[in-house]
Amino acid sequence: MSSTSKYIIEVKIDVIKTLKLLGITAGALTAIGLGTYYIHQRIQRSKRVILRDEVKHVLEPFELTDEQLRRVMANLNTEMINSLKSDGDIDKNDLGMFPTYVHRGPNGQETGEYLVVDLGGSNFRVSHVVIEGRNRINLKNKIFLIPHSLLLGEGERLFDYIAECLQRFIDDNGLNLNKPVDYTFDLAFTFSFPCNQTSLSQATLVSWTKGFSCTGVVGHDVVLMLQQAIDRRKSLKIQVVALVNDTVGTLMACSSIYRDCKVGVILGTGTNACYFENIENVPKWTGVRNQTTKQVVINTEWGALGKHACLDFIRTSIDRELDESSLTPNQQVFEKMISALYLGEIVRLIIVDLVQRSILLPGRMHKSPSLGRDYNIFLSLRGSFYAKHVDDIECDTTEDLSVTSLILTSIGIQEPSYDDCYIIREVCKTVSLRAARLAAAAIAVLVNRVNLPSVTVGIDGTLFRHHGKFKKNLTRTLSRLVPRTHRLVLSEDGSSKGSALVAAVHRYTNEIATSS
Ligand code: GLC
Repeated sequence: MSSTSKYIIEVKIDVIKTLKLLGITAGALTAIGLGTYYIHQRIQRSKRVILRDEVKHVLEPFELTDEQLRRVMANLNTEMINSLKSDGDIDKNDLGMFPTYVHRGPNGQETGEYLVVDLGGSNFRVSHVVIEGRNRINLKNKIFLIPHSLLLGEGERLFDYIAECLQRFIDDNGLNLNKPVDYTFDLAFTFSFPCNQTSLSQATLVSWTKGFSCTGVVGHDVVLMLQQAIDRRKSLKIQVVALVNDTVGTLMACSSIYRDCKVGVILGTGTNACYFENIENVPKWTGVRNQTTKQVVINTEWGALGKHACLDFIRTSIDRELDESSLTPNQQVFEKMISALYLGEIVRLIIVDLVQRSILLPGRMHKSPSLGRDYNIFLSLRGSFYAKHVDDIECDTTEDLSVTSLILTSIGIQEPSYDDCYIIREVCKTVSLRAARLAAAAIAVLVNRVNLPSVTVGIDGTLFRHHGKFKKNLTRTLSRLVPRTHRLVLSEDGSSKGSALVAAVHRYTNEIATSS
């Protein structure tokens, strides 16, 4: 054998030895690796079980049973009946149950040109509405931002600003062109706050809700205040003919299409509903009682439910915390559990609670919100988590929860883990489900009160319009709570079209009355 071939054989043997050795080492390493991985997984899994239990414990008070919902229904119904009584003590009743002086829906005969001002959220809208008969409606509108200072400043300035925007809208759209010099527009004022009405165009603001807090308006006639602001601008020729709550606008717009629409609901920044009630069930009605006023639309202001503790059996410590730090403590208790203005804040407060219990973002946050350096700004800032976040996270079906992770990162929660994302999605689901189920319970009460073989409910507001899961949960719960036939319909442009329809019905009724 040559020395070369011997060398080759030796090298071969060495290689085999090395390979064997390496094989053993690789096997051992793989085994050790897998072992460690499984142990890690098991620790993670058991950690998750503990986590799940702790999270469950925190979220449990938000999970309402059907029995609890039925108790909410019974309490709401009782409060409604009490608030309709003439001898009811206003301070003891939760609800406004305001008669709105709207007695019927449109019949298709109404026509005319109207302006509508819609004030109720953080923006307001001016619309030009032309009703051409048979409920054919043309609408043009523009949204104006309200500077935050106006929401909290002097009321008169807010109304002056509205008049200024009206002027701009009329000029920009050339609405005065080809009109006689003394032409006066009829204007419907969609004003979505609790008002005590003494006619269609007289309405005293009872209290602000939804973050408004202008001075010098509560206790005053808001129609008069708007009229005075308009009249201060000599070139504006406008008569405010109707005050309309957004729920009533929603109901009217929807009932122009569906004859059996008897309930209007808003599920948006705030929540509220109105419905057609028989006058004989409204002892406090002081207006005319005749053939044309057999029914009246009642603005329930159901958001105020709970003022006198009838919801205490479902209120959580988080609800109380949110209420105490709000602009309106102990008011709008029901609304604060449901509406878009508050949903994000409820979630944020639960997240803070979970962080303080070291369940969420463990070790990466200071325990007290006294703003340690690491303490996330988002976690300490009231109102920094929106209903939109709740919806997006709740609907995140990606395997790695990347949508949730992205949202959390975008609001400043650095590198959330999968567990963090998972828990926060559970929180969002729970809070949103509670809101939808409570809204369903309240709608069920009205569907029962209307007491017809089938009822259409007109609904508007971001929660119903854009939050997919919310709508599904609402619909499902409602079907369980009311066996009666009902359908939920999105009311398009309700607060503009519907308010114009209120003015049109009023004009038509007056014309008929004077011509007969
Ligand atoms: C608030 C207002 C109410 C309005 C509702 C929806 O609850 O008090 O009048 O209808 O928000 O905008």
